[in-house]
Amino acid sequence: MNQPLSRFKAVIFDLDGVITDTAHYHYLAWKQLAESQGVHFDHEFNESLKGIDRMGSLDLILASASRQYTPEEKLALADVKNRHYQELISTMSAADLLPGAVAALDTVRAAGLRIGLASVSKNAFTVLGRLGITDKFDYVVDAATIARGKPDPEIFLRAAHELGVAPADCLGVEDAVAGVAAIKAAGMFALGIGHPFVLTEADVVITSLKEFNLAAY
Ligand code: G6P
Ligand code: MG
Repeated sequence: MNQPLSRFKAVIFDLDGVITDTAHYHYLAWKQLAESQGVHFDHEFNESLKGIDRMGSLDLILASASRQYTPEEKLALADVKNRHYQELISTMSAADLLPGAVAALDTVRAAGLRIGLASVSKNAFTVLGRLGITDKFDYVVDAATIARGKPDPEIFLRAAHELGVAPADCLGVEDAVAGVAAIKAAGMFALGIGHPFVLTEADVVITSLKEFNLAAY
């Protein structure tokens, strides 16, 4: 009998920074918003926002502002940023898929595993549609239904539950420190995309999905 290709039953992918590089668009939109409030914003700050949800990111930015904001003001600012972001992603296409992403999804599918998407982005469905890969996923978590963002494990646990797979049988794929922490807190194996000295909690780290080797984990 043939050995199965993987000891896992499902692979749950993050979107931004794993399948496509939307980080630059988030950067541009947050930078404009931050500067409109007199807050300095650079690439290093943007890095620290990876995987953090919209309101959480705004709170981190406004922590450096010279005044306090009401909840209504915060919602309005988050909306300004989001509309700018949506404008930026409106021209995305399959050309924005990161190298190795489709091959990785197809490998997982061919091996008979379930495939989930766990992004805290409320724009995830739009981005998947623009990339043309919506139908490659068995289940996409709707971020609007998630109460706690990463590093809380909620989103990964939801994906596993909906896929009908125990967390211990899931491989999670993430580029953000908060995301890797969420995978580990969910009791899953964490494959980090990035640098081992940054993603210290990950079980294995590769530089991009070009190096994805399902049988090796
Ligand atoms: C991802 C990105 C974050 C972004 C978050 C929310 O996790 O890595 O940078 O803030 O999604 O995205 P949204 O599209 O809902 O504003
Ligand atoms: Mg990410």
